Amino acid sequence: MKAFDDYETLISAEREVRDNYMLLASCVLPRPIAFVSTVSAVGVANLAPFSFFNAAGAKPPTVLFCPAVTRDGTEKDTLRNIRETGEFVVNVVPYAIRDGMNETAFAFPPDVSEFDTAGFSMLSSRYVKPARVAESPIHMECKLTQIVPIGSGPQSSSICIGEVLCFHTARDVLASDGNLDVEKLDLVGRLGGDGYSTTRDRFSLRRPSGKSAPESNRG
Ligand SMILES: Cc1cc2nc3c(=O)[nH]c(=O)nc-3n(C[C@H](O)[C@H](O)[C@H](O)COP(=O)(O)O)c2cc1C
Repeated sequence: MKAFDDYETLISAEREVRDNYMLLASCVLPRPIAFVSTVSAVGVANLAPFSFFNAAGAKPPTVLFCPAVTRDGTEKDTLRNIRETGEFVVNVVPYAIRDGMNETAFAFPPDVSEFDTAGFSMLSSRYVKPARVAESPIHMECKLTQIVPIGSGPQSSSICIGEVLCFHTARDVLASDGNLDVEKLDLVGRLGGDGYSTTRDRFSLRRPSGKSAPESNRG
């Protein structure tokens, strides 16, 4: 295997946060996208994408995503709503809704619902107040477990951890064996800058033993 030449970037206090962000976002990719719906204390529905997102555990099923504080120190509506209500829904993003998803990333005021501005339809959730996105084939109804601060002040962020109470999976994206079909899902991922990827070019790797790993060793 080829060894690469090293190029170091030392993280100093003087370095622009934006440069750290750009580097990080180009190192960790493709990133899955959580299309998060919340509702404010006064009942305004909110919808926004977050690519600092992943699964965090299976017992109980847990997800996390990371809303940042803006340069002017404003907390995002999503985080404020979750603090207020303790609930959110993670919807997934297939290629078909990429433009609408992108539209919801505009910084609308808290009294504006991105469901309306971007033309998404709401489906009632079963166990939490925030609505599900009808145009997304998977919805995870979540109860807040913990908010972990990362830094403080403008451009800091938070890890928002939630337990999945209920998964909704559209029958259209199931394979004949009842499992989710990656091809039918056709989800997109975020790259650095304005780049995105699809999941259309796939391959498999067998675990080193030549057998499937035991359940406890999966990840
Ligand atoms: C694909 C995509 C991924 C994003 N990921 C994040 C993220 O991980 N963290 C973050 O703070 N903002 C992220 N953003 C920006 C937010 O979606 C944007 O700030 C949005 O307006 C927040 O909405 P809210 O104030 O209604 O919560 C992302 C935007 C896009 C288009």
